[in-house]
Amino acid sequence: MKGEASPAVELIKVSKSFDAVQAVRELSLTIRQGELLTLLGPSGCGKTTLLNMLAGFEVPSAGSIVIGGRDVTAVPPYRRNTGMVFQNYALFPHMNVFDNVAFGLRMRKMAKFEMARAVGHALEMVKLEGLASRRIRQLSGGQQQRVALARAIVIEPKVLLLDEPLSALDRNLRGAMQVELRELHERTGLTTLFVTHDQEEALGLSDRIVVMSRGEIQQVATPLELYRLPANGFVASFIGEINRLPPARCRTEGNDVVFEIAGGIVLRARKRNQPTIGAGQETHLFVRPEHLTLVEGDRPAPNRVSCRVTAHLYQGAYTLTRVDAGPLGNLQLRVLGGEVIAAAPIGSQIKISIDLDKAVILAG
Ligand SMILES: Nc1ncnc2c1ncn2[C@@H]1O[C@H](COP(=O)(O)OP(=O)(O)OP(=O)(O)O)[C@@H](O)[C@H]1O
Ligand SMILES: [Mg+2]
Repeated sequence: MKGEASPAVELIKVSKSFDAVQAVRELSLTIRQGELLTLLGPSGCGKTTLLNMLAGFEVPSAGSIVIGGRDVTAVPPYRRNTGMVFQNYALFPHMNVFDNVAFGLRMRKMAKFEMARAVGHALEMVKLEGLASRRIRQLSGGQQQRVALARAIVIEPKVLLLDEPLSALDRNLRGAMQVELRELHERTGLTTLFVTHDQEEALGLSDRIVVMSRGEIQQVATPLELYRLPANGFVASFIGEINRLPPARCRTEGNDVVFEIAGGIVLRARKRNQPTIGAGQETHLFVRPEHLTLVEGDRPAPNRVSCRVTAHLYQGAYTLTRVDAGPLGNLQLRVLGGEVIAAAPIGSQIKISIDLDKAVILAG
């Protein structure tokens, strides 16, 4: 049902204060029908508070919430038809899997026969068939996580709210569950709001990502747009690895933009559409580690800079190599494989090339 005109959820200037803390500030956001939208931001930026307001567990201090065209700002949780997976799962440990999943259906007084069918279907969706009579404490972390998911989807919610559902899992299981969550989303077509503070998880899973900081939205965009065209310094630094160069003055020279950085460094980029940046203006350059490359010998290369190797972090498929680039500060390169560790030992002088054509350039 993707692309339907009427939005699944609308938040209109929603704020939430707890005494002195303003957890969410005049936040407006539209969630499209059937999309998997991710809220991404550092700890304490207001993600759980926002989810709690959508589910009805917290009442906004101001603003309104519309779900499926109906204003639910004053509607209690059990009348909202939202399914939520809490940050700590919040399963009932003394009940078995079936009763945990059936909980919301009992509250809705569903007939026994129908309930058994619905729970069976939900358990199938999360690949837990055959475990209905198991106690919660006899399950692994990953299985508990699936029970929490089944409990949320069994009520056929208008919106599925997932609060860091994978954060308790180890790295391997987490990767597998990310793929499964995405598949579950394709199968059910449920409008989903997913919360994480893990940017890789957000980039891998989402149709769109909302980056939050201190109760406010910084940017809403697809994963690709967010990585390539972050709207500001916060988003640039929060999404993926990035090097922030010292402030530069820029001017144009033919088809080039020239950046002058204190310490006598001059870098060049091809002119592209940068309407926000005028000549003489202070600019900030952000460069991804994959856009810095090693230069062998005296080979000419754009934006060649001398530097000293300070560390290698071997990652398997690639190595993150840290260098001291003098006036440009400390930079990090991403070099394929691990050969660089022996070829450019710590302390050695190397030359790197900075590809500014792919850099993020933001005005002062
Ligand atoms: N019930 C509460 N009473 C007082 N302050 C609260 C309450 N709930 C949240 N806060 C505050 O509101 C802010 C946002 O909290 P919230 O739990 O929404 O953050 P979060 O983005 O979910 O963080 P995390 O990634 O750590 O889960 C924090 O400063 C937090 O301390
Ligand atoms: Mg939280």
